[in-house]
Amino acid sequence: MAMQAPKGTKDLLPMDSYKWHYVENKFKELADEYGIREIRTPMFEHTELFTRGVGETTDVVQKEMYTFEDKGGRSVTLKPEGTAPAVRAFIESSLYNEAQPTKLYYFTPAFRYENVQKGRLRQFHQFGIEVFGSKEASIDAEGISLAMRAINELGLKDLSLNINSLGCPECRKKYNDALKQFLQENYEGLCGTCKSRFERNPMRILDCKEKKCKEITKNAPTILDYICDECKDHFEELKKYLQAMDIEYTVDPNIVRGLDYYTKTVFEIIYKDLTVCGGGRYDKLIEELGGPDMPAFGFAAGLERLIMTLDAEGLEIPNSSYIDLYVGAMGADAKIASLKLINNLRKKGVKCDCDHMNRSVKASMKYANKTNCRFTVILGDNELQLGTAKLKRMSDGEQFEVNLKDLDSIVELLK
Ligand code: HAM
Repeated sequence: MAMQAPKGTKDLLPMDSYKWHYVENKFKELADEYGIREIRTPMFEHTELFTRGVGETTDVVQKEMYTFEDKGGRSVTLKPEGTAPAVRAFIESSLYNEAQPTKLYYFTPAFRYENVQKGRLRQFHQFGIEVFGSKEASIDAEGISLAMRAINELGLKDLSLNINSLGCPECRKKYNDALKQFLQENYEGLCGTCKSRFERNPMRILDCKEKKCKEITKNAPTILDYICDECKDHFEELKKYLQAMDIEYTVDPNIVRGLDYYTKTVFEIIYKDLTVCGGGRYDKLIEELGGPDMPAFGFAAGLERLIMTLDAEGLEIPNSSYIDLYVGAMGADAKIASLKLINNLRKKGVKCDCDHMNRSVKASMKYANKTNCRFTVILGDNELQLGTAKLKRMSDGEQFEVNLKDLDSIVELLK
């Protein structure tokens, strides 16, 4: 049997890699603009980081983690997300002693054992930012503005930004009590998963996709009626800052997010029913994981979902992966000359290649067409003797005579 990639994983094939570079470069370019620096954390961590960080009652921890024992008998987990590892690294390397806030970004694979469907994979990739050390809502607004701008500038214009506040642990306690009181009456009608959420994490019931649970929670009290003055002010400030930056939003009190660490701001960016980005504030996590009492904010965008959406919308993604010049060679001496030519042109920044398949002139042209080379030149005895050759522009077939020794004019022509 031919081997297949594990379910829920995808190869990135060479004909698609330019799309990834395009998306990654956009995020990187904006992160640089916002003064955010890169962090890379390991692919796996001690399992406890996620059980404590992401939360025991979440689906991620309960059902979706790739957890195994290593040969030393330690329980380790492939990272299901990038936030807890970034916090762990921040604490471990005492980055809290540096000037604050600490602004980090990352690209990371993430692993979740999920039901595979459109836009839902078991290994997927995220671009994320995490900002540590500031409780100001201006940080939330800046983070959201970066996410919106990046996704917008990729070409996806019809974005919905939904925001909510989950308050602080005190407001949450009051709200959970009220929610439980409301749900109590309909407890028997809830699905099995929501019944188990009732005691441990009732807010997650609001996020259940089951029809009967949705029906029950339709008129549930909303968290925004229970948040304290400080959390309310923070949310109002966020709205003011977003308005100042002309970022449109909808307040959606049903956003609860799937991870337990959030406090105050949460948000999601949706494109045609698909959540392409999500995040929020998590002011208690650094302390919970053994660091100082410091606030934090962050988000992550799913790269597969973004690329899938760009494809589905038929948006043109600039492809700069094509070769500028393909050099064919007729004979042994010409082959040496062709290697020399591409070697020298590459040093001048030209993307070029030569024939490694002993192709005829006709086959060379066919190959150059198929691989979208911009120009082609064939070297043979004649060209070597004269020291000149004809570069053919593949788009219209026009030919340009060049002096093979005058590399600069070849470079100029290829621009
Ligand atoms: P999340 O909402 O779990 O948040 O994931 C963020 C994004 O990753 C989602 O909006 C989605 O685009 C993508 N994503 C999630 N799961 C999958 C999957 N199975 N297949 C494909 N794409 C997926 C977090 O991970 C938080 N760490 C975000 C954050 C950073 N909050 C604060 N800082």
